[in-house]
Amino acid sequence: MPNLFDPIDLGPLTLTNRIVIPPMCQYSAHGGLATDWHLIHIGSLALSGAALLIMEATAVAEEGRITPDCLGLWRDDQSEALAALVKTVRSHSPIRLGIQLSHAGRKASSHSPRTGGSGPLGSADGWPTIGPSAVPVSERWPVPTPLTADDMDRVVEQFVTAAKRAVDAGFDLIELHGAHGYLLSSFLSPLANQRTDEFGGGYDNRARFPLRVFDAVREAVPSTVALGVRVNGTDWAEGGITPDEACRFAVDLERHGADFIHVSSGGNARGDIPLGPAYQIPPARLIRRHVNIPVIGVGLISSPVLADELVADGSVDLVGVGRGHLHNPHWTWSAAEMLGHHLHVPYQYARARTSSFEPPKSWQHLGRQEVQPTP
Ligand SMILES: Cc1cc2nc3c(=O)[nH]c(=O)nc-3n(C[C@H](O)[C@H](O)[C@H](O)COP(=O)(O)O)c2cc1C
Repeated sequence: MPNLFDPIDLGPLTLTNRIVIPPMCQYSAHGGLATDWHLIHIGSLALSGAALLIMEATAVAEEGRITPDCLGLWRDDQSEALAALVKTVRSHSPIRLGIQLSHAGRKASSHSPRTGGSGPLGSADGWPTIGPSAVPVSERWPVPTPLTADDMDRVVEQFVTAAKRAVDAGFDLIELHGAHGYLLSSFLSPLANQRTDEFGGGYDNRARFPLRVFDAVREAVPSTVALGVRVNGTDWAEGGITPDEACRFAVDLERHGADFIHVSSGGNARGDIPLGPAYQIPPARLIRRHVNIPVIGVGLISSPVLADELVADGSVDLVGVGRGHLHNPHWTWSAAEMLGHHLHVPYQYARARTSSFEPPKSWQHLGRQEVQPTP
């Protein structure tokens, strides 16, 4: 029976434990560029002891940003800013770093929480959005323009170019955002996709465009970089994607070369979400039964005991803990202590050590020997 602190292979990566910090938008970019906030935020979480951190939804195109403050990879300077961040974090932490690539589709052009708003920006500051069909998120949202064949080619290219920039920036892992009602997810959901061409209708047609994006990115990304997709296990709404279709999509992604599946849910419509501990685990567990690649489960798994149980009973292979780490960047330390496992901590924090922490004997596990612990 595996436990939360057992290592696991995720495609080409070997992770030291099963704890993942999932992508969390910071709304702190300037013109899509990472800022000092990102360095402080990622730097802090990089000392968490979690094996993998996936950076926030990062737009592959300017019009694919959720808000004006979102991170982007549609220009080379954005990749350079992220490369500097990755280099700094790497020099102080063994955490594996991933990035989530996203196109917000019909949910783009939203207010940033930085300025206190929510919902669509409106015509003054907003920009035109695209989606599978001319179906808005709700009456309050603008009607997106359905993608033409040329638009699809352009978006595929944008994902590919952004993925190459993510590789250049030094990320270990790329996650395509296929959940929460953003562009790829909206193609899969009958609630947003009402096309009558070969990209709408039955499951095979609705999955065609997301799989096309996946294939193109898979081809562009070297096998040394893990590539996977965050999917919706369900839309939690009548007429939306069901757990059965979500399984078919996960199986297709595995067949197309995905290294992992990250199961989230919702965002295509206002649904009745049964919020509670591990509420997204039932669809994740179902998907895990159908695929042979690691599945990450996430969503209100804030108790280390629950996280450990979900790994031990085979519900999922890895557990995402997002808000738990925002609240306590050393959530993983606490989990190790509670569950009786040993964790390496930076020598600078060695005096915070409890019975579960082992100060590193050397820095060799980081692959850098020029920094020596102070005696
Ligand atoms: C501040 C914040 C920002 C988020 N941004 C993203 C994002 O960029 N991409 C994404 O797929 N999910 C995003 N999420 C969802 C989280 O990745 C995660 O699935 C969710 O918070 C549930 O896990 P938790 O209960 O452990 O926090 C965000 C959540 C929070 C709290």
